[in-house]
Amino acid sequence: MQLLTAKLMAFLMFTSCVLQDVVSAQLVQLHWYMHDTPFNGPSPSSIPVTAFNASDFQNEVNNFLFGQIYVFDDPLTQDSSLTSASFGRSQGTYSFVSREEIVGYVSYTVTIQTGVHNGSTLNIQGAAPSSAPLKKYAIVGGTGDFILARGIVTEELVNLFGPFNASATLSHHASVFLH
Ligand SMILES: *[C@@H]1O[C@H](CO)[C@@H](O)[C@H](O)[C@H]1NC(C)=O
Ligand SMILES: *[C@@H]1O[C@H](CO)[C@@H](O)[C@H](O)[C@H]1NC(C)=O
Ligand SMILES: *[C@@H]1O[C@H](CO)[C@@H](O)[C@H](O)[C@H]1NC(C)=O
Repeated sequence: MQLLTAKLMAFLMFTSCVLQDVVSAQLVQLHWYMHDTPFNGPSPSSIPVTAFNASDFQNEVNNFLFGQIYVFDDPLTQDSSLTSASFGRSQGTYSFVSREEIVGYVSYTVTIQTGVHNGSTLNIQGAAPSSAPLKKYAIVGGTGDFILARGIVTEELVNLFGPFNASATLSHHASVFLH
């Protein structure tokens, strides 16, 4: 009985090692910081598409920004500072899609402009409440090294200057499973 248990344990350890190898061989982990500067500062990196009544900002917030749509072209960096080494760009839209709390829906492309994946892109989509400390979005595909990739991106707010003329620094961790 003991021998059987030992054999079973050895077999389980062996298979979990093999599985881990297979998984880690196809998993790419990436980390970057996104810098989003909306509204009417001198050089906004995101702009509202829908009419935005600046003098009525508090009212917009009270309505959970519902219906607001932004187009953005945000720089990505390797460290939390905007002046640190570039990682690439993220370009797309976010909108506010809930009548019960502030929920942002994102749909954008990350273009990597450094390192071994230079030139490859990831497509990211999903909705998450702004109040969540860790937001999660799906990686639904990509190009270059990431053709038919799947995965998940987590997003964490590390810095917010605002609320109006706000500038946000967001930390992203991506786990990308290659095809
Ligand atoms: C936002 O920034 C613009 C340009 O820098 C400035 O004119 C405006 O007063 C600012 N708005 C607020 C509410 O701080
Ligand atoms: C913006 O909001 C203010 C305050 O609620 C209101 O007086 C004004 O008419 C609004 N402007 C527009 C263009 O809707
Ligand atoms: C990334 O690729 C582009 C286009 O091939 C090239 O111009 C650029 O120098 C590369 N950047 C880095 C950091 O390797």
